[in-house]
Amino acid sequence: MSTLVNVPRSVIWNGNSITLLNQTKLPTEVEYKELTTIESVWDSIVALEVRGAPAIGITAAFGLAQAARRYETADITKFLAQLKRDRDYLASSRPTAVNLFWALDRVVRSVDDSLTVEEAKERLEREALDIQQEDEEVCRTIGENALTLFRDGDKVLTICNAGSIATARYGTALAPFYLAKEQGISLQVFASETRPVLQGARLTAWELQQAGVDVTLITDNMAANTIAAKGISAIIVGADRIVANGDTANKIGTFNLAVLAKYFNIPFYVAAPLSTFDPALETGAEIVIEERKDEEVTHVFGTRVAPEGVAVYNPAFDVTPNELITGIVTEKGILRGNYKEAIAKLFL
Ligand code: MRU
Repeated sequence: MSTLVNVPRSVIWNGNSITLLNQTKLPTEVEYKELTTIESVWDSIVALEVRGAPAIGITAAFGLAQAARRYETADITKFLAQLKRDRDYLASSRPTAVNLFWALDRVVRSVDDSLTVEEAKERLEREALDIQQEDEEVCRTIGENALTLFRDGDKVLTICNAGSIATARYGTALAPFYLAKEQGISLQVFASETRPVLQGARLTAWELQQAGVDVTLITDNMAANTIAAKGISAIIVGADRIVANGDTANKIGTFNLAVLAKYFNIPFYVAAPLSTFDPALETGAEIVIEERKDEEVTHVFGTRVAPEGVAVYNPAFDVTPNELITGIVTEKGILRGNYKEAIAKLFL
């Protein structure tokens, strides 16, 4: 009854280096590149060659393990000091997605009680591999949980790319569409193009098409009209950071969709693993929102589309207030209602 769908992967550890699907080249070129230095890992994260909260974390974890292999010292104290410096360097690449810090801290913690440098080097690599493997399993479970929210024939709107290439595999918000495809359930996805850097058009449309999922591309300003004209039954998005009260940072434009969902009285779901939660922050106001360079807005693929010297505001993410979220789909089930209580229970 189930057919294997073609779900692409974006980060592959080959024992020495990271093979990365260069997401800036999609969809016109499917280019894989090798990352062999910690600087190239940092650069790839900043340039969005790898992006999406879980994928950034996985790449940074491998990047740190890889860098540590080259430390020449046999002194474990010196080794750990250098590891901390490199952890901080990779952590400085992007501020909003908490998975980056979660993954880096997890690999660093894994060597806390290592007695030798050799043992620590092995543990770092093992931990990074575990993070990747677990993320694949978690995403599949999120997909199974999210699929219970949809019925055959539903039309569902999403933004950005919370898909396979943003995670170890399957994605978060896109996972239910792969599972639906495997199970012969028909869902129609509407992908919002996601200005300024078009993750929806370039990445979501590409990866769903690879898997034969029914996907229709719209521009961001078509969302209200599309909900009305096409009978969109639900919206599902990913997340970069979910704080203690359920406020959720995700790609800029997510908040707009949540407001529209309320207007049209359709459910608005967030899908995310526990590694995307940051229960240390009370409300979304505390989340650091990355602001990116003006050129992402003033230029489209290198061509200027705005006058020189114009002021630009380019936040990469926005925060959707918890009261606009119908449910948060995790690997531990679907949270609803009082998010503060539900999230606190997840981290007991
Ligand atoms: O700037 P990006 O492309 O890294 O932003 C990605 C998103 O906002 C995703 O929705 C989020 O990271 C979830 S990925 C499963």
